[in-house]
Amino acid sequence: MTPRQTTNPAEAEALVRDLFRKRFGVTPPHLVRAPGRLEVLGNHTDYNEGLVMAAAVDRFIFLAAEPRTDGRVELVSTAFPEPERFRVDELRSNPAARWADYVKGVLAQLRRRGAPFGGFNAVIHGTVPAGAGMSSSAALEVATALAVRRMYPFSLSDTGLAAPPQRDARGALPALTPGERMHLARLCRAAENEFVGMPCGILDQVSSLFGRAWHVLTIDCRFLTVETLPLTGEALVVCDSGVRHALVAGQYAELRHNCESAARKLGAQALRSVELADLKAQRGRLSEREFECAYHVVSEIARVVAAERALREGDHAQFGQYLFQSHESSRDFLRNSTAELDLLVELARAHPACLGARLTGGGFGGATINLVRHHEVEDFVEYMAREHERRTGRGLRPQVCQIVDGAE
Ligand code: GLA
Repeated sequence: MTPRQTTNPAEAEALVRDLFRKRFGVTPPHLVRAPGRLEVLGNHTDYNEGLVMAAAVDRFIFLAAEPRTDGRVELVSTAFPEPERFRVDELRSNPAARWADYVKGVLAQLRRRGAPFGGFNAVIHGTVPAGAGMSSSAALEVATALAVRRMYPFSLSDTGLAAPPQRDARGALPALTPGERMHLARLCRAAENEFVGMPCGILDQVSSLFGRAWHVLTIDCRFLTVETLPLTGEALVVCDSGVRHALVAGQYAELRHNCESAARKLGAQALRSVELADLKAQRGRLSEREFECAYHVVSEIARVVAAERALREGDHAQFGQYLFQSHESSRDFLRNSTAELDLLVELARAHPACLGARLTGGGFGGATINLVRHHEVEDFVEYMAREHERRTGRGLRPQVCQIVDGAE
């Protein structure tokens, strides 16, 4: 299936409905959408039980679905030529269709928690650019969980499954409570950790589920709480470096390993509990790499706290400075930047309307996020494309993103 290219949500939704009708002969009774996210500040802090700021943005995974009675699943994705077919009681990874692992992983987690569900047909379409560090994978996991909930209602609680939610007279389910959203985020992260094998933290899944239009989320990854602060008057622009490194999962895991062994050697549950002064004083107990990674994480968590204060006071210029500092710390200590990302930040920094810029997400390729004075965003976009072409000979298409509500 080759879709038209559009980032307009209404058009993309119409396209998914249309494709579903063509493929399965009916209008899909369920259509969910889950947004991608931008990590605004807090690089690699989530799995260290730290703080991270993020925003759900207007790039989505759409999933149209209808239940089937034979226990089979047929998934069609507009990004891949072949559909994937399997039975709900035989959830195995297919090396020829790794993209379906995100769906299967969520189903496996639902099964483990005892949620009863049967088969379904689904058409999946995304406007989240894959590999650009905007978490298309988490959006697919969240879309899957919500679509299953619509077809086979379930409710997660602290102790496992709660009584299933009841539909109202019009067939609609009650809105998810924040508690249920957090359970879903944990379930989706477990799917990615265990089925896909990517040892990510909870940032992406929480962002997709808790997003709030015009607001930045501050996620406390130790206590699993989410606060929101308005961010208006500036634009968020994403510049995709176009670089995709094949070894990202391995490099990510290595950073995580260094952080966790540093915490262990310092006698802490996680780097969240470590103070910068203590870290410096105990440097001798750590390897050079462990110290560098820990130094980044501990100072980055402190930066999030300071940035939250700046944002609360409406001081966007100061807020942006923390983004630049974060990039420098990722580049010099965590060392998950690339020459291409560094160049994008350097170019952005030279533009007077750019308040802050940094790499966003796992790193080792992917994209930068830029905080730009709203009324000068067009000039910024043109400038970045032009300067990037001049310096590298390669085109660049900066994307202006809107902050949106979480998945529904
Ligand atoms: C990826 C992971 C997240 C987070 C970021 C880095 O996006 O999926 O859990 O660790 O990298 O902050």
